[in-house]
This record gives sequence, C-alpha cells and structure tokens, in this order.
Amino acid sequence: MQDIKQYIEQHKQRLLDELFELLRFPSVSADPKYKPDVLKTADYVAKKLSEAGADNVEICQTAGYPIVYGEKIIHPSKPTVLVYGHYDVQPPDPLELWKTPPFEPTIRDGKIYARGACDDKGQFYMHVKAFELMMQNDTLPCNIKFMIEGEEEVGSNNLGIFVKGNKEKLKADVVLISDTSMISMEHPSLETGLRGLSYLEVEVTGPNRDLHSGVYGGAVANPATILAKMIASLHDENNHVAIPGFYDEVIALTDAERKELNAAPYNEEEYKKDLDVTELWGEKGYTTFERTGTRPTLEVNGIWGGYIGEGAKTVLPSKASAKISMRLVPNQGSEKITQLFTDHFLKIAPASVKVKVTPHHGGEPAVTPTDSIAYKAAQLAITESFGKAPIPTRGGGSIPIVSLFEAELGIKTVLMGFGLDSDALHSPNEKYDIFNYYKGIETIPLFHKYFAELSR
Ligand code: BES
Ligand code: MN
Ligand code: MN
Repeated sequence: MQDIKQYIEQHKQRLLDELFELLRFPSVSADPKYKPDVLKTADYVAKKLSEAGADNVEICQTAGYPIVYGEKIIHPSKPTVLVYGHYDVQPPDPLELWKTPPFEPTIRDGKIYARGACDDKGQFYMHVKAFELMMQNDTLPCNIKFMIEGEEEVGSNNLGIFVKGNKEKLKADVVLISDTSMISMEHPSLETGLRGLSYLEVEVTGPNRDLHSGVYGGAVANPATILAKMIASLHDENNHVAIPGFYDEVIALTDAERKELNAAPYNEEEYKKDLDVTELWGEKGYTTFERTGTRPTLEVNGIWGGYIGEGAKTVLPSKASAKISMRLVPNQGSEKITQLFTDHFLKIAPASVKVKVTPHHGGEPAVTPTDSIAYKAAQLAITESFGKAPIPTRGGGSIPIVSLFEAELGIKTVLMGFGLDSDALHSPNEKYDIFNYYKGIETIPLFHKYFAELSR
C-alpha cells in the first residue's frame, strides 16, 4: 500500500495532466461531426496503453468506432482480468449552461469539470494509470486485458459482433468496470446490478403540412396535443407504467432484499436540494433506492414538434415526436418490452393521426454476483483504501456489455465505480473529484493483488 501511495504522490501532476489531455478530445459518438475527434481519441488511448506497458496494442476496427485493445500476459497460469471502459462521451449540449467549456477541463474546488470527466474517461483512465503503476513497481500480480470501446453512449451496437468474433482474445476470469457510482466517499459502495434499456422514438403525424392555427385550429387534430395525451396515459395515477404486460416478468424483491437495499445511507433532503426539487415523484409503494435500482421505469427523453423558434408563430404542426426510454430490471427482456410498447402505443392512437414507432437500441439488465472471488477482492481493496467496507447497491443506469459478456463469454463482472450521482453525468458541468481519481488509482492495484491471492 505504501508503494502505491508513494507512486501516486510522485507522479501526481502528470497523472492529472494526462487525463486532461484525454478530456480535451471531444469524442462525442452520437454526432457524426465529431468523427475525426473520436478516432483521434482511440489513437491517444492506444498510445497511452502502450506507454504504460501493454503488449499487442491494437485499434480494432468495427462497423462503427474502433475498440482499443491491449494486454499484459505475465503467465498463463495466472488469473486474467478484463478491464472494460469507454472513450466516447455524451453530447455536451446545452452548451450555454456550462460554466467552463466542456472540452477544456477546468479545476474548481478540487473537482475536474469536463464532459467525460467521470463518464467514463476519468474512470477508465484510472485503470491505465494503475496498470502503469503496477508495471513500474513490478507488482502486476495477474494477467490484464484492456478493451476500451467508443460506442457505449450510443448503445454499443457493434460490440456484440466483436465479442462473438474474439472469444479467445477476450478470454478472462472476470470483467472489471469502473463506470458506475458510489453513494459517497464517506460511504463507499459497490453496484451489484444494472438496469436494461429499451429506447425508441415515436412520431405522430396529423395533416400533410403545418397549418394556420386560426384557419384550421379546432377542426383538425393537433399532433402535439395528441402526443402529449398519449404520453400522459403511459403512467397511471400511482405512477405505475400503464402498458399491459409491462411488469409481467418482473421478479419482486424479498423483504430481506428490500431491507438490505434500504439500509444504505440516504438523505432525502440533500437529494432534493441537489436537484432543486421540492418533492420527489415515483411509483407508489417504493422507496427512492427501489425506484431507481430495482423497478422498471418509462421516461420521455425529449419531445418536440411545431414552432420552437423566437417569438410566436401561429401554427398547427403537421408532426410531433418524442424519444422514450424504458429501464428494465432482471428477467425483463429488451426486445419484448420494445414490442409491448410498440403494440400499445399504436393501439391507443386515435384515428385522427398516424403513429410511427422506431426502436433505437436496447440492452439487457444484469446482476453481478456478491459471492465470487472477484467481488470479495473488490470488497477487500475498497476496505483497505477507504478504511470502510463497501455497501452493496443496485445501479439505475445501463451498461449493455455486462449481460453480453456473461452470455457470450460466460464471464461475470465486478462494477467498481468511483463516480458520484451528483457528478452530473450526461448533464452540463459534468465533474469528477480529483480525490476520487487518485483514490481509484490507489484501489485498483489492491483489487488485482487480492484477486490474484484469492484465485490461488
Ligand atoms: N456509465 C453509464 C451508466 C451508469 C451510470 C451506470 C451511473 C450506473 C451509474 C453509461 O455510460 C451510460 O450512460 N449508459 C447508458 C446506456 C447506453 C445504452 C446509452 C445509460 O445508462 O443511459
Ligand atoms: Mn459510462
Ligand atoms: Mn454514459
């Protein structure tokens, strides 16, 4: 432990400078205008992996953005850890709400502000630097493989093909991912599950053109009004999702599981204050942890139609649209839920409009075991670096690769994330605490150490 701390202390500034360099690449996978930047980011990651001591570093082409691979095999008899992360980031908009530009990392109050600071550049780069540390100190205790992709934020559509075609290359005993949150630095935690996702877009079409709202208004159905009504009907008065069959596959938690989940520290006042809301909202009969970690949900991610420019324009829009996501819990299937939604949404459409539903992408939910050697290693590592045992929690987000690795390679995952929910992932002013960054670099070598020890 002392040698780890010493290495970090000695290289403190450089460890931060390199992360800043990574954060300056606007690697937005969703928007084609950033394509050259996304590709340059992959090159940078490959270069850094090589410099840290990885062998066989490769920029693996896919039908989309490349996957960066690198490895260090110290001995075939040693266990192998597959580190997964993503170098792509969410779009930075709305830009005007950033206090400092999203791709000019800036430190304020001990925190790094930049798009991707936490999700996931700051977090996966801790692994690259922890690997460098173990190489330099000659303490790498197991084999390590890196797989850093560039399409996580757009659904990892090409990853399945890559994983299926590279089973031998990716062979490992455990997948280690830092792309989730902890409760707080005072209450370190380990996520033991992720939700799945069904994401789709709906379009409601009325008349064949935008109409004068005075000439035609009152006589022709307004697609924006119809869409709003249809969306509003997707939750009932208790905020349950009102799609027939939506909950059919959901497995109810046992009383003991609910009790354990709700024992984690939670301060509702702080939660509300952080978000500037006076009241929380959610499915009746469930706590906040249960609502975000163990229950399926439906959210509108964006909604538009008609005139949204400056001033007023009297118009009855021809079309209105929305992007809708559903978060899924274990035993629900993404394709099935997408189908249920589609059938229902078409069924509730009034005859006065035409409705189109287009699926975007999905991902399956996952639970990670808490009785494995790898989970134990993560517990021991966190206990040593934080001085406190981690609390198991269920994450609300989705990382589709987790279920994919299990299905295709038969490998389970450990989610050792160091972010905080308040790090503003996907929001303006995303941040990552410098403390968390160094703490991660300190904890990761301990994970490898305990994993190798317990695997013997
Ligand atoms: N790192 C997040 C997922 C996450 C965040 C899990 C916080 C747990 C806690 C990941 O980058 C992400 O945003 N995933 C997407 C899914 C993807 C298919 C677009 C998500 O959850 O919306
Ligand atoms: Mn992420
Ligand atoms: Mn994300």
